[in-house]
Amino acid sequence: MVRLIIVLQLIIGTFTGLNSVRASEAIGGRELAKKNLCLGCHSETKKVVGPAFIEVAKRYDNSPASNKYLSTRIKEGGVGAWGAIPMPANKNNITDNEVNEVIQWIFSLNRQKPS
Ligand code: HEC
Repeated sequence: MVRLIIVLQLIIGTFTGLNSVRASEAIGGRELAKKNLCLGCHSETKKVVGPAFIEVAKRYDNSPASNKYLSTRIKEGGVGAWGAIPMPANKNNITDNEVNEVIQWIFSLNRQKPS
């Protein structure tokens, strides 16, 4: 009986698209950062073109105000917070939800590796 319910859920999920929604939610901040080419200029622990994400996580608190600030910076780009090299705008290829997920992943780096 339990098996039948699981099979039915899978079938219903496939036809209603519920399974694919779950899959995209499970993709995670790091995968999103990779997919959106953030990791071409940033690494978790080392400065590349842009600052190491762990340094970003240490500089800001995970408050609604910092989240809003970082979200705007990621979407619109900017310069001067870390040096003279500007970050280009990323707003065309990343959604607000994805930006927030990447920000939460960035803050999680600081929790994993306390200094
Ligand atoms: C072409 C290179 C490049 C790409 C691609 C890039 N960044 Fe950046 N990023 C930078 C640079 C350079 C800075 C430093 C800007 C500054 O000094 O204000 C930066 C800064 C940041 C900051 C800190 C902003 C601040 O005001 O402290 C965050 C967070 C960030 N990037 C996230 C991302 C995310 C997320 C993506 C992908 C959607 C991304 N970056 C893509 C180069 C890049």
